[in-house]
Amino acid sequence: MCGIIACIGSDDAVGELLTGLENLEYRGYDSAGIAVQNGHGIAVRKKAGKISELKGAIAADVPDGSVGIGHTRWSTHGPPTDENAHPHTSQSEGVAVVHNGIIENYEVVRSRLMEEGYVFTSETDTEVIPHLIDHYMDQGDDVETAFERAIDDLDGSYAVALMVDGTDTVYAARQDSPLVVGVDDSGPETRYYLASDVPAFLEFTDRVMYLEDGDVARVTTDGIDVHDADGPVQRPIETVEWNAEETGKGQYEHYMLKEIHTQPEALRGTLSGRIEDGDVTLEEFPEGTFEGIEQVHLVACGTSFHAAKCGARQLVRAGIPASTFRASEYHDLQPVDERTLVVAVTQSGETADTLSALRRAEEAGASTVALTNVVGSTVSREADDTLYIRAGPEIGVAATKTFTSQVAALTLLTHRLAADLERGTVREDAAEFLAELEALPDRIEDLLGRTRASDVSESNMGRDAYFFIGRDFEYPVALEGALKFKEITYEHAEGFASGELKHGPLALVTPDATIFALLTGDRGEETRKNAEEARTRGARVIAVAPEGMDVGEMADDVLRVPDTHPDLAGLLANVQLQLVSYHTAYGLGREIDKPRNLAKSVTVE
Ligand code: F6R
Repeated sequence: MCGIIACIGSDDAVGELLTGLENLEYRGYDSAGIAVQNGHGIAVRKKAGKISELKGAIAADVPDGSVGIGHTRWSTHGPPTDENAHPHTSQSEGVAVVHNGIIENYEVVRSRLMEEGYVFTSETDTEVIPHLIDHYMDQGDDVETAFERAIDDLDGSYAVALMVDGTDTVYAARQDSPLVVGVDDSGPETRYYLASDVPAFLEFTDRVMYLEDGDVARVTTDGIDVHDADGPVQRPIETVEWNAEETGKGQYEHYMLKEIHTQPEALRGTLSGRIEDGDVTLEEFPEGTFEGIEQVHLVACGTSFHAAKCGARQLVRAGIPASTFRASEYHDLQPVDERTLVVAVTQSGETADTLSALRRAEEAGASTVALTNVVGSTVSREADDTLYIRAGPEIGVAATKTFTSQVAALTLLTHRLAADLERGTVREDAAEFLAELEALPDRIEDLLGRTRASDVSESNMGRDAYFFIGRDFEYPVALEGALKFKEITYEHAEGFASGELKHGPLALVTPDATIFALLTGDRGEETRKNAEEARTRGARVIAVAPEGMDVGEMADDVLRVPDTHPDLAGLLANVQLQLVSYHTAYGLGREIDKPRNLAKSVTVE
């Protein structure tokens, strides 16, 4: 949801900014822009469309400089045009600003500034920031004070970077939007980066300082000063474990395909060191962490919500009352108190809806756990405890490997809660189940080695609608299959609990529809009957079935899933569905890693 980048002390600011923006493009791709200092004022270049358009536009006239800021946009206020692209400059052109987030009171501020004679050239909320800075500088403030006063005037969320003409300084501030500093001290001169996310500058450095909400930073070639409302603060510099290779596409044509194929590795990361002697050890939760907990709420959005649904089902099976909520709907639905554990499931750790649900739970006195992939993300800093899914960076906008790792992490958490909570019961087949969980990466490898998803996709192109049905753990997988399909193919797709088909959706079933029927798991036989009902109405049925199941006449085609524990088979079925979505989108020539209108990190409510 917009990506920002800045570099300070660079030999090639434009090159580094463009690299950083390409690494951040998953956050938005409506327009892109950069501004650099080159000794003759601030040179701004910006363009509607993807970063490649910007690159093309500046190829003939690349401004040079050692300090710069850049932005890739996911539009909120104003359509994706050149004028609305960032950076935005002040009237005097003395400062340039990039911003991620939403300024909620921008209309009021904008009217006030217009009355004073400021002329706006864009429809964005962001443009109030440079004009406000000008306004305070006109009153005699130095730039730092003007920046802080401008920030104080804003309501809403922001990560802002500001460049000032004639200096090598970049100022930055964050409130409810992520902002990290990269420090490359490997050479004779230290270089600094500011960005919305670590992968932006991972090619240059893995040394990172995470800024907190309310922080204002001043970054020059001489160092970083950070302060909050109470005065100067020290933020530690940490070394991140991800490396630039992990964030590249490698041998794959798309990030999504890479991320589907690296699921075994991601899952091994999730499980590593967490299962020992047939038991689950989660060191992040010392003994007594869950004392007094009587119920669990899982809050999440999109794919993470589907993973949360798998988690809730496991918890309920273990005797623990558990419910899932779409984070944007977590308003006064259920009593929440100190006996409630609220688990915020979010790959990015920055999803605004999930963060506000978490904050609501915290206000009500609940204990909270963040289940996330991104170390140092906002959710991990705000929740009482964090369980990292350790899936490695996911760049494709469509979540794939992180779904698998989220479900696996929730499986481990369920085991731990079943053991710790009074009303919990550890499953009788725990040893066998956990052994199968550990073997799951091998099963995925096996599946990937002989999937027919590409052929199946080819023979199902051009259908009117695609439905995904399943029961039990396969119900959230059906929802996830449909979400992935619609997200990247733009075709009409819906997921249903297979038992629900006859309560309405069957009316949509025609000979021009394809139904993916998930026949894995303990209730696959029941879904098979529902699929037969659809086939009788002429639909084409694709069975996603365990190795040994004879699907006979009920299916037009079949995608096989290696044998595993029935409660884990849905995860394997999901991998087949991920591949079907990928190959269908590929056949349709879609922008697989950057589906239209979407962004990876949704930092607005
Ligand atoms: C779907 C997808 C989105 C995200 C959702 C939540 O492929 O990527 O539906 O799952 O925006 O994002 P996180 O998990 O970062 O909170």
